[in-house]
Amino acid sequence: MNTFTSHNIALGKERTMSDTAILLKDSNLWKSVKSTVELFYPGPQKENAKYSVVDLGCLEGGYSVEFAKMGFNTLGIEVRQDNIDKCNYVKQQTGLGNLNFAKDDVRNLKNYGKFDITLCYGLLYHLDNPVAYLKTICENTNKVLVLHTHYANEFDFRYNLGALNNLYRPFEKRIKPLYTKRNFRLGRLTTHEGYRGRWYKEWNAGTADNKVSKMLWASHGNNQSFWLLKRDLIKALYAVGFDHVFEQTNFTGDDMAPDNYVEYNDRSMIVAFKK
Ligand SMILES: C[S@@+](CC[C@H](N)C(=O)[O-])C[C@H]1O[C@@H](n2cnc3c(N)ncnc32)[C@H](O)[C@@H]1O
Repeated sequence: MNTFTSHNIALGKERTMSDTAILLKDSNLWKSVKSTVELFYPGPQKENAKYSVVDLGCLEGGYSVEFAKMGFNTLGIEVRQDNIDKCNYVKQQTGLGNLNFAKDDVRNLKNYGKFDITLCYGLLYHLDNPVAYLKTICENTNKVLVLHTHYANEFDFRYNLGALNNLYRPFEKRIKPLYTKRNFRLGRLTTHEGYRGRWYKEWNAGTADNKVSKMLWASHGNNQSFWLLKRDLIKALYAVGFDHVFEQTNFTGDDMAPDNYVEYNDRSMIVAFKK
């Protein structure tokens, strides 16, 4: 089994990562998802067994495990073989009968039917057509979408510098007051799928498939991703069919320091749901 890169999961007395790393189940990342879902599905576990969850781009399966432990019928979808091997190892070790994984591109979500809860954590900003994908998610979600994602800023002079931003980056890192927002080297502000945002380069076009499959956290099938502006992301969520859109910030704190995580990383947790 290759090394786990992010999800520290307790498997009996063992853990998938080091003893000093926080367990996913104890992290604010998971607790914020759990407490959100409990607003809609307060349980108990036996009641949750009537409902289903899909975990898109599930990496090593940590969130899927926790949903299954809550009682939900859970499917994790993940495109990379190295990651899905870890998911299946975790399934085998936990013995959870309501936990399943599929090795697939999340764009094929429609093939798996509808889910009551959709977790889209760290995935939307890896897609080149995020709005079309939000539509797919909405069509396949009965109740609630928990979306954890980066977004782009409308005003950021660094992204107008083009290649010069590569020179500017090391300079701003040394002068702390300049470095109030992480520099993702995004492209210029543009419109795509009718919404504003900026392009993010994941890997060089033409990179061999076997190399891309080893980039365990990256996009798959598109070498550039489109990061929507936050206000365009929210507009799109309503436009594709969600009735309510909230922002949830309980995930900050513990390993999501510093306190300004949301502002610094332009990343937040959005909860969208249907009446
Ligand atoms: C940044 S990681 C986030 C993982 C996990 N959801 C989490 O938040 O810890 C992105 C994950 O999405 C997967 N991924 C990226 N594009 C995908 C696609 N088109 N279909 C399925 N999985 C994809 C990657 O392999 C990786 O596991």
